Amino acid sequence: MPDFATPPPLDRHGPARVIAMCNQKGGVGKTTTTINLGAALAEYGRRVLLVDFDPQGALSVGLGIPTHQLDITIYNLLVERGHDVKDVIQPTRVTNLDVLPANIDLSAAEVQLVGEVAREQILSRVLRPVMDDYDIILIDCQPSLGLLTVNALTAAHGVIVPLECEFFAMRGVALLIETIDKITDRLNPALTLDGILATMYDGRTLHSKEVVRSVVDHFQDRVFHTVISRTIKFPDATLAAEPITSYASTHSGAEAYRQLARELISRGGAP
Ligand SMILES: Nc1ncnc2c1ncn2[C@@H]1O[C@H](COP(=O)(O)OP(=O)(O)OP(=O)(O)O)[C@@H](O)[C@H]1O
Ligand SMILES: [Mg+2]
Repeated sequence: MPDFATPPPLDRHGPARVIAMCNQKGGVGKTTTTINLGAALAEYGRRVLLVDFDPQGALSVGLGIPTHQLDITIYNLLVERGHDVKDVIQPTRVTNLDVLPANIDLSAAEVQLVGEVAREQILSRVLRPVMDDYDIILIDCQPSLGLLTVNALTAAHGVIVPLECEFFAMRGVALLIETIDKITDRLNPALTLDGILATMYDGRTLHSKEVVRSVVDHFQDRVFHTVISRTIKFPDATLAAEPITSYASTHSGAEAYRQLARELISRGGAP
C-alpha cells in the first residue's frame, strides 16, 4: 500500500472537477461513497458540492435534509427555467460540504427530458453557475444507465465506479464501461475513469479477497489501492444522518474514506 501524503491546503478555490459516482447495480456503495469521500475531501479544506441525482433521495436524507418538505429540488432546476441553483443548494453540518438535494419528484424528469434539445447536457447547464464556487462536485447517480445517468456522465470530468466485493460484482461492469466509452465518443471526450473502488470488503472471507484479486486482474491500475471494508458503522452513520468522518471520526471506516480522498488527490482526480 503506497503512503498517500496529506494534501497541502488550497490557496484558491475552483473551478470544480466533477466526478460521477456510477454503477447501475444497486446497493454497491455509491451514496455512501459520495457522502464520505465528499466529507473527507471537505476535511482537507476542499470546497465540496454533493449532487443527489437519485429520486430515492438517499444522499439528501443521509445528510439530514427532510426531502419531502422541499418545494424546489434539482428536479425543478432540470425541467423548469428561472430558478437559481444557489437557492436550491443547502449547507450541511460539515464545513465546506454542501448538497444539491433531490426527492421523488426527480423520478418524473427522465420522461420529461426525453424531448428536450440537448437533453444529455441539462445537468451541465444546471451546474455551470456554481462551477467556480467549488473544488470538487460529486454526483450520486441512481442505479440505472438511463438519461439521468447519461446527464451525470456528460457533466463529469471523471467517473468512480464502486464495486461490492461479492460474487456477481463484475456482472454489468462491461455494459457500464461500454456506456462510458459511448459517452466519451459522442458527448464528453474529456471523460476519464478515475477509478474502480472495492467496497464492503470482508477480510475474514477468502471470497472477498478473490473478488478483489479478479477486479485488479481485470482493471489493473484503474483500481484504487484503498478498499472500503464492510462495517455496520456505515448504516449507523446514515441513520444518524452524518458522514462517518464525523459520526465515528476515529473508526477505520472514516480513515478509509480519508485515505481514498488522499489517493484521489494524489492521482490528480481532485485538486
Ligand atoms: N462499507 C460498507 N459496509 C457496510 N454497509 C455498507 C457499506 N457501504 C454501504 N453500506 C450499506 O449498504 C447499503 C447500500 O449502500 P449505498 O446506499 O451506499 O449503495 P448505493 O449504490 O448508493 O445503492 P443504490 O443503488 O440503491 O442507490 C446501505 O444501507 C449502506 O448503509
Ligand atoms: Mg444510492
